[in-house]
Amino acid sequence: MNEKDIVLSVKNLNTSFISDRKEIKIVKNVSLDLKRATTLAIVGESGCGKSVTVHSIVKLMPKNARVKADYILYNQKRGDKITEFDLSKLEPYGKEMRALRGPDIGMVFQDPMSSLNPVYKVGDQVAEGLLEHNPKMSKEEAKEQVLAMFRELGIPDPENRINDFPYQFSGGMKQRVVIALAMICNPEIIIADEPTTALDVTIQAQIMELMKSLQTEKNKSIILITHNMGLVAEMADEVCVMYMGRIVEFGTLEHIFNNPSHPYTKALLRSVPVLGMEEGRLLETIPGITPNPAELKEGCEFADRCPDCRDECRKGTIPAFEVEPGHKVRCLNFNSFKEVD
Ligand SMILES: Nc1ncnc2c1ncn2[C@@H]1O[C@H](COP(=O)(O)OP(=O)(O)O)[C@@H](O)[C@H]1O
Ligand code: SF4
Ligand SMILES: [Mg+2]
Repeated sequence: MNEKDIVLSVKNLNTSFISDRKEIKIVKNVSLDLKRATTLAIVGESGCGKSVTVHSIVKLMPKNARVKADYILYNQKRGDKITEFDLSKLEPYGKEMRALRGPDIGMVFQDPMSSLNPVYKVGDQVAEGLLEHNPKMSKEEAKEQVLAMFRELGIPDPENRINDFPYQFSGGMKQRVVIALAMICNPEIIIADEPTTALDVTIQAQIMELMKSLQTEKNKSIILITHNMGLVAEMADEVCVMYMGRIVEFGTLEHIFNNPSHPYTKALLRSVPVLGMEEGRLLETIPGITPNPAELKEGCEFADRCPDCRDECRKGTIPAFEVEPGHKVRCLNFNSFKEVD
């Protein structure tokens, strides 16, 4: 694969928040590459910094955030032409960044109401995204495209439903509208942050199937954030396992499921429901709780919960080791392998 097949490349992303005059590090030296027309999953328990990571990438951050990165390169492809943007150098709400969010990078968040305006008709909201980025388009043309998108997303009776308000939609249908919002400008990258967490299991499966088919039919590149290893198994090509702001394991889907190596990844996998598991059987949960990021000590972030922890784990920063080509693990159990950062 040549370098240009990487649509998004993030190097050493660090994000912290200033709170009570203290700086709390939340994302630590995160580097990742999203390959064109593939799905990269970022998986980890709640509070480990997944949302902060992607919000930092698209530069939608509150004022008390400090974001630094060596680079956040986006390779825009238009026909045969590739243009490179370094998002880390762009003003968060400047003209260039605003032009990229939507037509190049679409976003689907967990709570549909964080994307929808309750007092506008859904059809108008989706059309507005289109018209904003295509000033020459007529309203009729925009409406036709919105209808086509609603049909494609399986929203029944779209001619009437475009005139409804968000509260008139069920949770699953609302999330379809949000996907329509994210997709209407035909972006290359879709960032989906726990897109189905708020929905019930059947609807979750429908929405994920929809995203998977959009990805394969339209060659989209997806960053999927989830705490659910079952979803990862269905959706991802490559996986970043994140714990307390660091990527602790990275590899292909096969690496992560066939040869899970970091003690945290193994624990996450033990907490996945297995098909056919007897009803009522409790899943094994990961012992201990995630530490408070303001009170983290030096050494491995997972030390307090790790069955393999020893003295050397509590010193310095734990490097990553390449346990097989393309499979990296940040754990001293693997220090006989080549160090990769
Ligand atoms: N605006 C903020 N100010 C201070 N801390 C924040 C802010 N936003 C998020 N955090 C903290 O960052 C950490 C990671 O949050 P988040 O990325 O939302 O986790 P995840 O998406 O993995 O569940 C949490 O400890 C959270 O409290
Ligand atoms: S570095 Fe040590 S504490 Fe951390 S995951 Fe590996 S064995 Fe456990
Ligand atoms: Mg989150």
